[in-house]
Amino acid sequence: MPTVFITGASRGLGLELARQYAADGWRVIATCRSPATADELNQLAAASGMQVFALDVASGTSIESARQTMSGVPIDVLLNNAGLFGPKAGADKDLGQSFGSIRYEVLEEVWRTNTVGPLRITEALIENLASSSQRKVVTISSGIASIASTEGGLYAYRSSKAAVNMIMATLAKDLAPRGVHTLAVCPGWTRTRMGGQNAPLTAQISVTGIRARVAELDATMSGQFRLYDGSLLAW
Ligand SMILES: NC(=O)c1ccc[n+]([C@@H]2O[C@H](COP(=O)([O-])OP(=O)(O)OC[C@H]3O[C@@H](n4cnc5c(N)ncnc54)[C@H](OP(=O)(O)O)[C@@H]3O)[C@@H](O)[C@H]2O)c1
Repeated sequence: MPTVFITGASRGLGLELARQYAADGWRVIATCRSPATADELNQLAAASGMQVFALDVASGTSIESARQTMSGVPIDVLLNNAGLFGPKAGADKDLGQSFGSIRYEVLEEVWRTNTVGPLRITEALIENLASSSQRKVVTISSGIASIASTEGGLYAYRSSKAAVNMIMATLAKDLAPRGVHTLAVCPGWTRTRMGGQNAPLTAQISVTGIRARVAELDATMSGQFRLYDGSLLAW
């Protein structure tokens, strides 16, 4: 039975990832900032037997504690899903993420969560990954981080995901000798708290695609940036 370790599993795509992997018979380690208030995740865990524990990906102390909890446990797939969008305001304004009104404390929090978190967790869990059968690190990125197609604004979010794309591509090189493969994958615009109600995709469809990408990830694909449906995205 393969093991998947998921961050940000309290809701949205992370919760759906936990649900689908558990239904498929995987051992699921579902982490989130506040297990005590993660009602849907706790219900799922009670029904499926998955393990739930606290992990704040923006905290080095919390990541170190996860490293100790996971000591000696092989992890086939690390799914860096936890993410922050940063402030949104109105239809065409991104308060605190627009040039001229950047809120730097917010920008740093978004970077700590979306960029530093996945790198730090991968470092903390590398022995778990390297001792597993599948050896895969997948980070949920975003198509709006494509440098080739930026439309302006959203400085915190776009830059955090563009930087994590570079981290994933660089990890692909550094971890290749240990047989660990990496991928940055965009879930598409999906109906979650972050994506909002107007998004065209359901979490169920997006996660089905993400899981297919995880399944096909191999050395030839390692370090790439793909959409949930498998198409390659421009950096
Ligand atoms: N939905 C979309 O259209 C879309 C598009 C492109 C990319 N994405 C990416 O997909 C991923 C999942 O997003 P979503 O749509 O499911 O959004 P969501 O519903 O807002 O869920 C975000 C999740 O991240 C968790 N989180 C935030 N900061 C965290 C931290 N410091 N430590 C641990 N967990 C943290 C949240 O936990 P709490 O419950 O504790 O807040 C929540 O579980 C994100 O990386 C996002 O950037 C989403």
